[in-house]
Parts: sequence; structure tokens; C-alpha cells
Amino acid sequence: MKAFPQTFYWGGATAANQVEGAFLEDGKGLSTSDVQPHGVFGDVVERVPGDTGLKDIAIDFYHRYPDDIALFAEMGFNCLRVSIAWTRIFPNGDDAEPNEAGLAFYDKLFDEMAKHHITPLVTLSHYEMPWALVKNYGGWGNRKVIGFFERYARTVFERYKGKVKLWLTFNEINMSLHAPMTGVGLPGDSSKAEVYQAIHHQLVASALAVKACHEIVPEGKIGNMLLGGLMYPLSCKPDDVFKTLQENRGWQFFGDVQARGAYPGYMLRYFRDNGFALEITDADREALKSTVDFISFSYYMTGCVTADEALNQKARGNILNMVPNPHLESSEWGWQIDPLGLRTLLNVLWDRYQKPLFIVENGLGAKDKVEADGSINDDYRISYLNDHLVQAREAIEDGVELMGFTSWGPIDLVSASKAELSKRYGFIYVDRHDDGTGTLARSKKKSFDWYKEVIATNGASLKA
Ligand code: BG6
Repeated sequence: MKAFPQTFYWGGATAANQVEGAFLEDGKGLSTSDVQPHGVFGDVVERVPGDTGLKDIAIDFYHRYPDDIALFAEMGFNCLRVSIAWTRIFPNGDDAEPNEAGLAFYDKLFDEMAKHHITPLVTLSHYEMPWALVKNYGGWGNRKVIGFFERYARTVFERYKGKVKLWLTFNEINMSLHAPMTGVGLPGDSSKAEVYQAIHHQLVASALAVKACHEIVPEGKIGNMLLGGLMYPLSCKPDDVFKTLQENRGWQFFGDVQARGAYPGYMLRYFRDNGFALEITDADREALKSTVDFISFSYYMTGCVTADEALNQKARGNILNMVPNPHLESSEWGWQIDPLGLRTLLNVLWDRYQKPLFIVENGLGAKDKVEADGSINDDYRISYLNDHLVQAREAIEDGVELMGFTSWGPIDLVSASKAELSKRYGFIYVDRHDDGTGTLARSKKKSFDWYKEVIATNGASLKA
């Protein structure tokens, strides 16, 4: 019988800036997320006293985490992905000492998880960095930021080494190509060469964090995190097929550096062909040799690639410039739903890296309707997750080593792209809306019991 391993991590995934709120509490500094109230693709808006953004309170996880974790435990989670807000630990990034109140908050959070036997999977940087590092240093464009990040990483490894064994470096590290401010703290109109230089610094920082984790948390494991942007050729024309190979390498390059420890030849050629003279020192090359223990990624959709420029012009610009696949349905937000693509992606990553894989984000963002009796019948979400998990199980049958599955947004949270609350992912509903109204009360959706059953049966209840 097809089955998930007994050691499988089942749970959910969140990010500090999308759930915590308390954006200036207990000494936290402003982050790039705090100055992007309209989401990861939105403009920077300098904060003025008294203004408010949805993420300032988000779902108030900072104060409500014990109740939320109890609900996750009720679903049977044995893993929860959270991120640490760098600005709670080093409010300006270059502070002489870490902020004790920030460190204490995550101590309490990890202790609460431990009470419920939930293993933390912790992202060091999920779509945010100290805003002061952007203003005063130019973000990741400045080599000095590598040192600030390494110090932050070493600080949290030391502090939480007894509590956290699973770590991730940068969330969707390949997103910097599409959202430079969110990814590397660079303005949206930066040149490609500037963005790649900043990305290089971040890749070095990621490798230094891997090395530090291996030294400080020897029994721990640290992975990278990719936006798994699998692309298909729109046709079997050789030009389309080759362009698809190149598009896929656009994101695989990050995994190649992080898992194999060096820049691949195709990327060096790309830099040469485009006249990018990146500063890559011998010390950088040495640092990059510290490779990740496992590969983690998000998966929401696939897209198509064509070499036909006229068709490309019509491509929808949602996150990646994908040409729609005529064979797939889309979500309310235009994200094309492709469960089999997950099996393909798992196989591609396994064949390429031969390292354990972890699906750390997958889920359906949808509008939910609260019925008169308070129930929420989110069958669409159940069907999306069921079909993706069935394909994950198929990939395991194919021989893929899969560590776990943390569904994105197990509780409704502020979405990343446009900072909306109406785009809901949760098994748990949060009464808060795009206009900032709502009581913040939590309630269970139909999918809550469904996921609970999936976990309790280790996937046997899934409908193939
Ligand atoms: C990933 C991010 O891009 O996808 C998350 O790591 C994000 O932060 C998720 O929330 C879903 O995207 P969105 O825009 O629907 O929130």
C-alpha cells in the first residue's frame, strides 16, 4: 500500500510578518515588510506616526500564539514552520547587542510548541530584513550585510540550539529576481547586474549560515527554500523546449549553488553574455562550499513558456511571467492548479540534487463564506490539498525522499503578494478583513477536521 513514511512531518507554515503583528512592540525595528503595506510587489511607503497597515496587527499571533498552537496541536501537527523576524533580534541590523525582549518572545513560542510535541521548522529570513540596513547600507547590495546576517544567524542558533533543530535560510530566495525590495532590499528599478550582485551576497550569507548551523547545532539540519516555479514548454517546438530549460534554470540556479556549492556553468555564461562583472571573491567561492542538508520549496502552480514573442506579450504577470496553460483551471487569483506538477517537480528536484526534500508551502488562497450558523464549507481547499498530497505520495513511490509537508497558512493570514486578508489559506478562519475590521476571533473550517483525519491516518484517508 502506498504510504507516507512514519517519520513524516505534518503541519503548517507561517511567516512572522504575515501573522505576528505587534510590529513595533518590545523593541522590534522596522522591516522592509513594514514599509511595504501593499505587499511584496508594492511600493515602499515611509511610515508616519499613526498610520496603519494590515500587517501591523496581522492576525495578532504575537499575543494569541498559545491558543493558535493549541488548535494546530488539535489537528495533530507534529511540525510548524515559523520565521523569526530579524528586526525583533537586531532592530536595525547593525546593533551592538541583540534585543533581549525579541529573543525572549521566540523562547516562549518554541516552548509552547514543545508543550504540544510540535517540531519547529524555522526560517531565518522570510521576506523581510531590517529597513535600517536598506536605508543606511543599500540592502544586500552591500557586502557588509553578509556579516550582519551571519551574526544574526549565529545569535539565534546559539540561543535556540536546544529547541530548534530544523532551519531554513532565505524564503523563496529566487523571488529577488521578481521583487528586489522584498528579496534583497533593492529598489524595483535596479539593474539585473545589481540584483545578481546582491543575490550573490545573499547566497554567500546563506552558505555561512549553513556552516554556522553545522558548528552550533551539530544534530540539526538546515535547508534552503526555493519558489518551485516549474515551467512547461507551451509547445514541442525545439525553441520553446530550450527556452523552458533556461526559464527553469532561472530558479534552479539558486538550488544549484546552495546544494552543489558552486556557480553552474550556464549561469557564468549568462553573466558573460550580458556583460555582468560580478564581484565573486575566492573567499566567497570557499564559503559557498557549505551546502544545505535538504531542499525545501513552495509549490502553488506551474506555467508555460514560449519563444513566440507575440504570445509572451500576453503573458500574465502574476509572480513569474507565465503563459497560461490551456489544460489547467485557475484559482480565484489566477494561479493555475496542477497537482501532477507537484509530482513532476519533486522528481526533478530529487533527480537533480539527491537530497531530502521538504514541501514547506502549498495551499489554496480563496475567498471563504461564513454561513449563518458560522460554518465554513471550504470543499475547494480540501480538494486542492487532497490532490496535491496524493501526488506527493506518488512521488514517494517514485523513490523521492520526502521529509514532510507544511501547508501554507494553516490559519488565515495576510497574503504576501498584495497584503490581503480576503485571500484565505487557513483551516482556521480569522475574523479580520481587508478594511481592518473584525474581532480576530478564530473558528474552524470544514478543512480543519479533514486535515486532522489526514494526519491521524498518515495520509490513508486521502482520496486518490
Ligand atoms: C509564498 C510566500 O510566495 O507564497 C508566502 O513564501 C506567501 O509568504 C505565499 O504568502 C502565498 O502567496 P500569497 O501572495 O497568496 O500570500
